[in-house]
Amino acid sequence: MRTFVAIELPPEFTSRIDQLQNNLRKTNADVSWVKPQNVHITLKFLGEVKEEKIEEVYRATEQSVNGIRKFQVNLQGLGGFPNLKRPRVIWVGVDKGKEILAELYPKVEEQFFKIGFAKENRDFTPHLTIGRVKSSKSLESLAAEINKTLFETQEFEVQEVVVMKSTLHPAGSVYTPLKKVLLS
Ligand code: 2AM
Repeated sequence: MRTFVAIELPPEFTSRIDQLQNNLRKTNADVSWVKPQNVHITLKFLGEVKEEKIEEVYRATEQSVNGIRKFQVNLQGLGGFPNLKRPRVIWVGVDKGKEILAELYPKVEEQFFKIGFAKENRDFTPHLTIGRVKSSKSLESLAAEINKTLFETQEFEVQEVVVMKSTLHPAGSVYTPLKKVLLS
């Protein structure tokens, strides 16, 4: 199973993502926009995990969140990775709650390292991928639109971390929660 550990967005936030993407779509940039209900904060991409290892993955997730209380997050700002000139990914940022995420992330890395998953080389920048760039078409207008867009949401409470299964379909990835681990 292709799996990852993530924080989901509350359903009432998906319309904001939808509006944002619709606005950026008008630039005609060649972007594969993530379905709003699929938008999430990835904590750890695990890749293929064998069925017999999944309980260990659940336990590592439980241990990672140990001592982390429910916390508030809001989304703010958007941009491109690695930059807006040559973006591969279009992201929405996290403002409130980023300190707790920065506390949680190394715990996740540590617990998954213990059960055999390599640590990420890159620094952790909490974000939500909202689109993946497919070609260089209309990137200037996309960048201009992103630069003039002010995006900020209200806060929401993160109550759980989810082990997610990703199934690739012709119409796009389908994410299915395998395990939800509640914060204290
Ligand atoms: P992203 O949000 O930063 O793009 C599910 O596929 C999630 O796992 C994606 O949202 C993506 O994070 C992350 N992901 C997918 N493939 C990955 C890879 N090869 N390495 C690291 N993260 C990956």
